[in-house]
Amino acid sequence: MTDRTEAMSPLELYESLMAQGDKVRALKTAKADKTEIDAAVQLLLKLKVDYKQVTGQDYKAGSPPSESSVVHDNGPAADGADDEDTVDPWNVSTTNAKGVDYDKLIVRFGSSKIDKELVDRIEKVAGQKPHRFLRRGIFFSHRDMHQVLDAYEKNKSFYLYTGRGPSSEAMHVGHLIPFIFTKWLQDVFDIPLVIQMTDDEKYLWKDLTLEDCHRFAVENAKDIIACGFDVNKTFIFSDLDYMGSSREFYTNVVKIQKHVTFNQVKGIFGFTDSDCIGKISFPAIQAAPSFSNSFPQIFGGRKDIPCLIPCAIDQDPYFRMTRDVAPRIGYPKPALLHSTFFPALQGAQTKMSASDPNSSIFLTDTPKQIKNKVNKHAFSGGKDTVDEHRKYGGNPDVDVSFMYLTFFLEDDEQLEKIRQDYTSGALLTGELKKILIETLQPMIAEHQERRKQVTDEMVKQFMTPRPLNFKL
Ligand code: TRP
Repeated sequence: MTDRTEAMSPLELYESLMAQGDKVRALKTAKADKTEIDAAVQLLLKLKVDYKQVTGQDYKAGSPPSESSVVHDNGPAADGADDEDTVDPWNVSTTNAKGVDYDKLIVRFGSSKIDKELVDRIEKVAGQKPHRFLRRGIFFSHRDMHQVLDAYEKNKSFYLYTGRGPSSEAMHVGHLIPFIFTKWLQDVFDIPLVIQMTDDEKYLWKDLTLEDCHRFAVENAKDIIACGFDVNKTFIFSDLDYMGSSREFYTNVVKIQKHVTFNQVKGIFGFTDSDCIGKISFPAIQAAPSFSNSFPQIFGGRKDIPCLIPCAIDQDPYFRMTRDVAPRIGYPKPALLHSTFFPALQGAQTKMSASDPNSSIFLTDTPKQIKNKVNKHAFSGGKDTVDEHRKYGGNPDVDVSFMYLTFFLEDDEQLEKIRQDYTSGALLTGELKKILIETLQPMIAEHQERRKQVTDEMVKQFMTPRPLNFKL
């Protein structure tokens, strides 16, 4: 036991403490055997001592460890940078110009690294060259992906689930990352996909009307459809529409709500007593699509079809909760594939913000806007003068133009050559930016062309509950 709790982060310790507190209360209420209660109390006390040691604070139910203590136990970063990564569904920030330290996140969240062995295995099972997001570690972490592949190899199919919080009409290139990857997974595995548009979530969290959130859900669905999803294998739904119409979906929401306590969501999401009750129960709504019987029209009422969720790592808290509750309500745990964040033009310290037009490339930007934004705002790892740059070379690890190319330039050899030339100083910042501009301009123009082809009729089709191509 000692070893296990000592390896825990403050947040994990806090979550265990909350759970252990619940357990002690439950045992007492149930008038359980005295030795059983004593053992549970003993463990609770031990966790409290560990918590105080790690955070320097006394444990208090309902107040999760402060951010600084959450990162504290990771030790100093190897490169000497201050270790202040914050990653949860609402905040992503770090003081390190290279961005969040993802290896440490894997340790902190208790997920697994997508290593070469897993990438090779995906290649073998899918029979296709792995997507560049896998080759380059953009999808870097997973939970239970090997189980999904084991089952698939035995001809047991699975389905994909991802989503989007429609907080505005404007989507930027970063928002497309999970969808581009999910489309690839859908194609290579030939499986159904459900996409949740959480208009309810955005209403609860932002100062927006329900009508606007719903409208954004439908508008964003057009950009998602423009990624090329197959209508015969894809169901896109707005929570506001689908929750009320599906007995089975709502049944699962209620089951989840019954099996997760306020203490648990407080521990996971940091809710406080002044958060509205809509927020407190929302995680159950994001969890429900992980269970196949939430979609009887697709899976004929089966509850055992495995689910794989590609998402950005900040969504993991929702699915830690989901995986925790799943066995207690008789369902399989969903598997996950986690992506890194797409950096803001200003640098990898933070995620992009849809409210700052200069922080990212929007899907509606013109070729000229793309050129200006990259030239003016993309943080450069180059030197101040051409002479110095030629002499000392640039730093691709902090250079946003280079980072964007790792997301979007398909050719591995070309990318490697750019990296070497930039590092040596042979390639200047202006030249690097030009390559990025010429990569983004046609990509965005093609997206806009495909989006234009998406009619209201098509959106309606994607968003209608119906059977999909799926052999049970
Ligand atoms: N909460 C997510 C957001 O704000 C939306 C979402 C719902 C989601 N279900 C998901 C994202 C499943 C990834 C996977 O964007």
